[in-house]
Amino acid sequence: MIRIGVLASGSGSNLQALVDAARDGRIDGRIATVVCNVPGARALERARLAGIPAELLPSKGVADRDAYDREVVARLHAHGVDLVCLAGWMRLVTPAFLGAFAATPESRGAPRVMNVHPALLPAFPGLHAQRQALEYGVRFTGCTVHFVDAGTDTGPVIVQAAVPVLPGDDEASLSARILVEEHRIYPLAVQWFAEGRLSVEGRHVSVRDGISSPTRDR
Ligand code: GRF
Repeated sequence: MIRIGVLASGSGSNLQALVDAARDGRIDGRIATVVCNVPGARALERARLAGIPAELLPSKGVADRDAYDREVVARLHAHGVDLVCLAGWMRLVTPAFLGAFAATPESRGAPRVMNVHPALLPAFPGLHAQRQALEYGVRFTGCTVHFVDAGTDTGPVIVQAAVPVLPGDDEASLSARILVEEHRIYPLAVQWFAEGRLSVEGRHVSVRDGISSPTRDR
């Protein structure tokens, strides 16, 4: 049973998807803590309703990114977090943060920070990915769950789902269709991690076969 820390800045629908999947047994783990950087964000309310310890660490106006991330890491470590899931976390994490959640023998060599992005990376990284896709005129876009590295949405891809762009789509309708897929593939990737099935070589992520889990094996 892994302990998951979720970092969220906004509505928290991906947080909710992870909470629901852990509750239903689709993830062999539990959400140990939520950290939010935006006062009043719906993610905080979702955590409260789910009975998950949540902390607000406002980041607006904080110039020292290293000091801020040290605070976040301390909160995650205090809850014994094994895996960090960025879920609409609107900040770049620092190299020191990534170092604090580097691969361990328990993670079977997999890095321990994941993110979900609303586009088929490497297309449309950064902000407003759905708007970028509409403006570009692609027929398909989608979402990506990837390990996080020091770049903006550049880490190794774990799983992707394609979503069609339909005539008449606007940013809201396209975002809603993509979110359905985000809520499906993020728990899947987390469960693969929990089962110890993920490994990374360079940019390539493998999902090992089998149903063995690091916790069940012991
Ligand atoms: C999602 O589209 C996610 O891909 C992006 O930010 C959005 C967060 O939505 N990184 P929510 O807060 O999980 O509802």
